[in-house]
Amino acid sequence: MSVDVLLGLQWGDEGKGKIVDVLTPQYNVVARFQGGPNAGHTLEFEGIKHVLHTIPSGIFRDETINVVGNGVVIDPVTLKKEIDALLSMKVPVSERLFISRKANLILPTHRLLDAASEALKGADKIGSTLRGIGPTYMDKTGRNGLRVGDLESKDFNNRYEKLKLKHTELLRSMNYPMTALADLETDFFAAIDFMRTLNLVDSEHLINKFIQSHRTILAEGAQGSLLDIDFGSYPFVTSSNTITAGACTGLGVAPRHIKKVYGIFKAYCTRVGSGPFPTELDNATGEAIRKAGNEFGATTGRPRRCGWLDLPALRYAIMINGVTDLTMTKPDVLSDFDTIQVCTHYEINGERMDYMPYDIVNMDVKPIYISLPGWKTDLTGIDSEDQFPVALSGYIAWLEEQLHVPVSIVSVGPNRKQTIIRKR
Ligand code: GDP
Ligand code: IMO
Ligand code: MG
Repeated sequence: MSVDVLLGLQWGDEGKGKIVDVLTPQYNVVARFQGGPNAGHTLEFEGIKHVLHTIPSGIFRDETINVVGNGVVIDPVTLKKEIDALLSMKVPVSERLFISRKANLILPTHRLLDAASEALKGADKIGSTLRGIGPTYMDKTGRNGLRVGDLESKDFNNRYEKLKLKHTELLRSMNYPMTALADLETDFFAAIDFMRTLNLVDSEHLINKFIQSHRTILAEGAQGSLLDIDFGSYPFVTSSNTITAGACTGLGVAPRHIKKVYGIFKAYCTRVGSGPFPTELDNATGEAIRKAGNEFGATTGRPRRCGWLDLPALRYAIMINGVTDLTMTKPDVLSDFDTIQVCTHYEINGERMDYMPYDIVNMDVKPIYISLPGWKTDLTGIDSEDQFPVALSGYIAWLEEQLHVPVSIVSVGPNRKQTIIRKR
């Protein structure tokens, strides 16, 4: 009857893929609703580590249907690579995967336009993953885009050429070299032939049939709430709605069907790419967190910027998303710290604020911290809440008091098994 949503409350990479994988046995369907191959969701189990970009994180579990919804943008080349890797691991992808005809396609020229736009911005660049996400969503809202369903049309190649011409004119006006285009197109056309063999469906009907037949659905978010196109740190954001509401528009689910909202956050903060980050630690402490947490991008390999947990930002994300259940990941990364800092307020122009103001890009935002005792214990072998060190239990209880939402899951390592579901 209902759809639960799982999404990131920070700037992405909170551990969504891992937690979706843990929760999948409770659901019949896992569905991605926005974003595209800018996402990198890591799953670890039985000695393997797998990074998914477009395919939902339920793909490894038997009997789970995985849907790529209309709100997603798909790069056929990346998708084919992902599927090839899964097939080589004997995952029966085509039985489990359904792709919306209404999802928009990322063309080779979208990738070039992304790179050209970033190059023009110079020092003000967004720090995009350069996967063509922004230009593809621009064509979608500009009503120029090509969609998965167009692959079934005899006219596809003409439509492709028309849109390509628009893009190449734009690229020429930006003086951006197009020498890579021919090779990119060869891969693209091979990949779309492959895509035509997949289950291309009217996913909004499929999802609603599942709802009517009492199947359980988990909607898997990509990126994080602070990268949301409306509510994130604009313009340093991605180009889609990463929040709960995005699951409605990105899957065709009516709001009344949304039940639980799982909000995932790290015990600290990271950000990859440009843009404001009030609690960033551009020092040895930040470096220590990066090293302990192996904070390097799952998609681009870029080092992630690290900092302390930011409660004004977290409260904001909880409010916008209507979070019902919190999941904290990576407290194991902070095991060496004697004390742990948490930002409780911002100070802006001498004024204390406990929420995110309109503009944190051009403001001098000073984080106000509280110091809490560190747990100084290796958490990675813990398998029940009773084994939590007192300082960790205290940290969680204090966060619940501050945030007014229960922390129902704690993750203590990258492996599927390193997950503690807390008793209520
Ligand atoms: P996602 O984009 O939200 O799915 O997150 P990513 O996969 O990009 O980044 C999270 C990283 O942290 C991955 O390398 C995960 O394997 C790892 N990870 C997830 N949960 C934990 C945890 O509780 N502890 C540790 N140490 N690593 C974790
Ligand atoms: P997952 O799903 C972290 C960031 C980029 C850049 C900005 C815009 O793995 O959490 P884009 O390519 O969308 O134009 O980039 O958003 N970004 C992410 N950061 N995790 C992600 O996804 C991200 N997807 C995009 O670094 O700052
Ligand atoms: Mg990621």
